[in-house]
Amino acid sequence: MATVRLRGLVDPHVHLRDLGETHKETYATGTAAALAGGVTTVLGMPNTKPPTIDQATLTRAAEAVRATARCDVGLFVGAAQGNAQEAARLAPQTVGLKIYLDATYGPLRVNDWATLLAHFRAWPRGRVIAVHAEELSVPLAVGLAWAHGQRLHLCHISRREEIAFIQAAKAQGAPITCEVCPHHLFLDETDLPRLGALGLMRPPLATPDDRAGLWEHLDVFDCVATDHAPHTREEKAQPTPPPGVPGLETSLPLMLTAVAEGRLTLDRLVELMHSGPRRVYRLPNPPDTWIEVDPADRWTIPDHGFQTRPAWSPFAGMAVQGRLRRATYRGRLAFEDGQVLAPEGSGRLVQSTV
Ligand code: DOR
Ligand code: ZN
Ligand code: ZN
Repeated sequence: MATVRLRGLVDPHVHLRDLGETHKETYATGTAAALAGGVTTVLGMPNTKPPTIDQATLTRAAEAVRATARCDVGLFVGAAQGNAQEAARLAPQTVGLKIYLDATYGPLRVNDWATLLAHFRAWPRGRVIAVHAEELSVPLAVGLAWAHGQRLHLCHISRREEIAFIQAAKAQGAPITCEVCPHHLFLDETDLPRLGALGLMRPPLATPDDRAGLWEHLDVFDCVATDHAPHTREEKAQPTPPPGVPGLETSLPLMLTAVAEGRLTLDRLVELMHSGPRRVYRLPNPPDTWIEVDPADRWTIPDHGFQTRPAWSPFAGMAVQGRLRRATYRGRLAFEDGQVLAPEGSGRLVQSTV
């Protein structure tokens, strides 16, 4: 079996749950899942418990990353009411500002004029503002970014109208980039009866036509991001299950399957999963870091045995082609044939180099 060597992947959108929800995930388990998925850099979202919105919480998160992570980790600072000046001061310690314009998991949500203007005015120009924006929040975010000369990154775009609008705005020179998640590319609302709560996330699975629209506009996307959002099976079985699905260990085989099916080239996969996210967030390249994949290996995604703490997948049962064999991170063998070898604390905290 011939293997192909690729750059270590960058996942610009993950939820790692340290320090307050370690039963869902920790930096140690989340970065083990990253390495098992061929990902050597992850960017962690701020809707932690407590939210990462000030120096004290960011310092605690940074210390935990340095002590326990197994790959490169960058951190977002979250936008809240009243923290625009402090968030702007923290910018050099982060990979960007995250603004939740719509309801999602946790209390971080900003959708009043005063707070949005404060953040778009204060955030240092040239650094990224990433947004959770659904439906009409997309043009709202693009307008705010354009008016304030900010670089905007639109997370997990899931609908045909959204990506068609982004294509039009980019054609006019709008300073925007965007990402798509494997769950919106490989699943849609017709999978919901089968998946139940395991198929619930924000933005939700959309229509088959929306899903087709994402594939038709694949060239408009800058990154594939998992929005890896671990919740336990027990939490998903509750009457109001939390939104989110794990994805770090399934993103590469799903995208390699799309390559095998001729839906994109391997070069374009590397662009979406390595160069694109590095360019958007101006991330350093960890030295001596690469992955080896067997593009011919056919297998079925299992429903257990993952590195991520919840150890389930919305993609269980799907036939895929392409498997990670080895990952080398900063000169050390970090993953080989199902085993994570990188010890806790071998990872690094990284920031955007603006
Ligand atoms: O489904 C989601 N889950 N969407 C989000 O935006 C947040 C995430 C989470 O933190 O669980
Ligand atoms: Zn989101
Ligand atoms: Zn997210």
